[in-house]
Amino acid sequence: MATRGGFSSKFGFIAAAAGSAVGLGNIWKFPFEVGDGGGAAFVVMYLGFCFVLCFPVMVSEIAIGRRTQRNPVGAFEALGYKNWKFIGMMGILSGVLILSFYNVVAGWAFGYFLEMVQGNFGIGGQFSDFVKNVSRVGLYGICFMLATAFIVSKGIAGGVEKAAKFLMPTLIVIILSLAFYAMTLPNAMAGVTFYFLPDFSKITSDVVYSALGQAFFSLSLGMGALITYGSYVGKNDNIIESTVLITLADVGIAFIAGLMMFPLVAYMNQGDMSNISGGAGLIFATLPGVFETLGQGTGVFIGALFFLLLSFAALTSTVSLLEVPVAFVVDEFKLPRKVAVWGLATFIFIIGVPSLLSNGYSPFWTEFVTYFGSDKPTDFMTFVSDLANDTMLPLGGCLITLFTAYIWKKENLSDEIAVGNPKFKGSLIEKLINLGISYICPLVLGSLFILTVLDRFFGIKFI
Ligand code: PFF
Repeated sequence: MATRGGFSSKFGFIAAAAGSAVGLGNIWKFPFEVGDGGGAAFVVMYLGFCFVLCFPVMVSEIAIGRRTQRNPVGAFEALGYKNWKFIGMMGILSGVLILSFYNVVAGWAFGYFLEMVQGNFGIGGQFSDFVKNVSRVGLYGICFMLATAFIVSKGIAGGVEKAAKFLMPTLIVIILSLAFYAMTLPNAMAGVTFYFLPDFSKITSDVVYSALGQAFFSLSLGMGALITYGSYVGKNDNIIESTVLITLADVGIAFIAGLMMFPLVAYMNQGDMSNISGGAGLIFATLPGVFETLGQGTGVFIGALFFLLLSFAALTSTVSLLEVPVAFVVDEFKLPRKVAVWGLATFIFIIGVPSLLSNGYSPFWTEFVTYFGSDKPTDFMTFVSDLANDTMLPLGGCLITLFTAYIWKKENLSDEIAVGNPKFKGSLIEKLINLGISYICPLVLGSLFILTVLDRFFGIKFI
């Protein structure tokens, strides 16, 4: 396994894993889901899911990866449970599906960066035309996939880790500066108040399922991304400490993204937060208008910085999404890394073409499916995201905890965590993790998975 490579340092692993976690999910998706889901009411639920349900899943994924030093499919086999490798296969499928549409949105972010640099604030009002311009948006998507593939082709220490070590600190500086700046604008406090005051009347079953999907998606869990990254981690790294740091980085950046976004929206709406649900267009349609009001100089600078931030955040995530199938192909079929990377990047880009076409360009993909109980059609990109993020990831998380607790067994998990963390055995955290993987995660995630499928796709509501 010596040729497999690995992270060169503890910080390198944490930067890369936090880089995987922090992405469009935090900066693009989180604020609009908060906006749609009742402000702080959504945030509280989301935090609960991250720390109670996701924490044991993340620990299990990293431990399985480090123990086996294999990709998500090979890992189950290496532990001696061939019949369970379907969990890894489902994970790889989720990763491929997620990357196929994620790359499209990442391309939008990159395209907006180029527009902002040229001072074209009008692009916000033209968002729906922008996404329909498939040759242009397709080109941005190609650029993004090329950048992703280039980094992944350089391997773990020389590509993934190096990029994350540069991109993550830069991203933190940019987002903090933008949040501070946003809070100095007139009416900013109305946005902050909206963010901190819960409106529980907005919590519907759909909001609960979205918060769960968002927690898994945002932490990159349930599809083996962290089994893969865990497989490159050194034996003296402390898995619990790393999990805490990755979770805090992810939740922290999402939180700061809200602190940046809502003051900006409040500033633009002159303090009126009564009708802010901008959906997926919150960032793309609304923000350029906000930047315009700051004047040419400041507006161009802040606008370009913002979309550069979004592109950087997306890049460290697309890198991890591509690494999952690459590790699988390299480990299992012994293909050279470069061949695996370029072949898979091309394949996934092609699978993403229907998502590219599904934002108004092609009526077939735009009105792809109408769920039972709904009167509106859902576009292909939203369908893939509903399927992968909100259903396959929580299901993957549920199966990973079931496998860890009852097949691989808690004692083996504890043994692996104790490597690099001698005080783990007998600690309270060990008991909590055991409780999580044995009962709380399988039960809650399993039930929420069933409820989500019934609700989302069949219109059957219980809550
Ligand atoms: N966590 C990423 C985000 O929040 O944007 C998305 C993601 C990356 C999901 C990697 C899953 C994954 F394996």
